[in-house]
Amino acid sequence: MTIIIAIAGSPSHPSRSSAVLEYAKTVLASEGLPIDLITVRDLPAEDLLFANFDSVAIRKAQALVEKADGVIIATPVYKASYTGVLKSFLDLLPPGAFSGKVILPIATGGTLAHLLAIDYALKPVIATLGARYVLGGVYLLDTQIQTNPDGSVHLEAEIEQRLKASLYDFVDGIQQVKNHQLAQSKKEPALAPLE
Ligand SMILES: Cc1cc2nc3c(=O)[nH]c(=O)nc-3n(C[C@H](O)[C@H](O)[C@H](O)COP(=O)(O)O)c2cc1C
Repeated sequence: MTIIIAIAGSPSHPSRSSAVLEYAKTVLASEGLPIDLITVRDLPAEDLLFANFDSVAIRKAQALVEKADGVIIATPVYKASYTGVLKSFLDLLPPGAFSGKVILPIATGGTLAHLLAIDYALKPVIATLGARYVLGGVYLLDTQIQTNPDGSVHLEAEIEQRLKASLYDFVDGIQQVKNHQLAQSKKEPALAPLE
């Protein structure tokens, strides 16, 4: 079974970046892949602010990340970077939390000027958490995202195609990593008994 989680890093509600995750959820659900969602703004603010590693809510979120094969991280661009509240959450993940997982970063922004925030700001943190399989990521402009009163999300055709292609690459990547891990586990020789 493939386990995918998504981390929504916006402090706002409603949120365009979360709407993109909703869209991703629909695409992956149609492939038979459900997504569990961690909405950082719903975690206790004090636990995030004071880095409370013992928080029950934080531990639950950590456990979701731990069992995932793939993680989608969506954030709005704030001041040319990802949000502070997302950083507060990522700071509470244990070392190596993304090791062996495939990561798809998504950012939404008001301007194309900060297109590289994914590469310069978010990816170094993802790498520090042990990720070795990180997709290029998708950057969406606000003008390309339309949220409707019924909760549905409409994306501009070009970005919709790009997001879908990235989601399919993400799913393929997860399968490849799982196959590789399985092959490695079969190759590993039995441990020799201690003398
Ligand atoms: C405090 C703040 C800072 C922002 N800084 C930037 C920025 O530096 N570059 C940019 O392109 N957009 C910036 N924006 C616009 C948001 O990134 C954009 O509207 C995003 O889609 C909002 O996503 P959300 O609805 O999920 O919070 C900023 C918005 C806010 C509220």
